[in-house]
Amino acid sequence: MSLIESKDSLADIKSTLLNTLNRAGNDKRSAFRFIILNTISDGFPNSRYVVLRKFKTDTQALFIYTDSRSNKIKEIEEDPLASVLAYDKQKKCQIKLKGKISIHHKDKIAEQHWTALQGGQESYNTEKQPGKKVDSLKDSHQMKSEFDDEYFAVLVLKVSQAEILQLNGDGHIRALFDFEKTEASYLVP
Ligand SMILES: Cc1cc2nc3c(=O)[nH]c(=O)nc-3n(C[C@H](O)[C@H](O)[C@H](O)COP(=O)(O)O)c2cc1C
Repeated sequence: MSLIESKDSLADIKSTLLNTLNRAGNDKRSAFRFIILNTISDGFPNSRYVVLRKFKTDTQALFIYTDSRSNKIKEIEEDPLASVLAYDKQKKCQIKLKGKISIHHKDKIAEQHWTALQGGQESYNTEKQPGKKVDSLKDSHQMKSEFDDEYFAVLVLKVSQAEILQLNGDGHIRALFDFEKTEASYLVP
């Protein structure tokens, strides 16, 4: 079953897109829960998978958790513009997002998300920073003496543009939504 169909209007497609992203934040089985986050590193595109933790349909804000010492933080500090890519193989649907990221570390938003976190705190509590070269696998797993939110960061991507591509035997469906200009358009696939 595809996510969007040829009978859907642009308004239908927009609401399906926003609801699908919202669901990905709540449903661990959603194919759009694992997304590729693209940032710029020394002029080169740099990509990695992250978990879509939350998506607000009203503000188009997408939330990601990370370690404040990770490379992506430095890259975002240098250039907050980023894109996100995801694909649902079963539904044959690709979603592409563009926007600006704000970093929340040791602030109210980070605190709220840290308090609500159900497990996985160890991901933000390694002794050494993510990406650091170490002598052994054991060293790479060494935890801090206390588990806390010192290095817990929330990335909020304010989505300005979203593109959806539904592969479809009778003709692919591609559409672009601009949330800043509140524009919507079909695109040639
Ligand atoms: C399925 C999957 C989900 C991941 N989720 C996250 C995540 O939510 N946050 C995160 O910081 N890293 C996550 N990672 C690890 C990143 O892909 C990456 O290796 C790590 O964050 C370091 O990236 P950086 O050096 O570019 O900052 C995930 C990896 C995989 C394979």
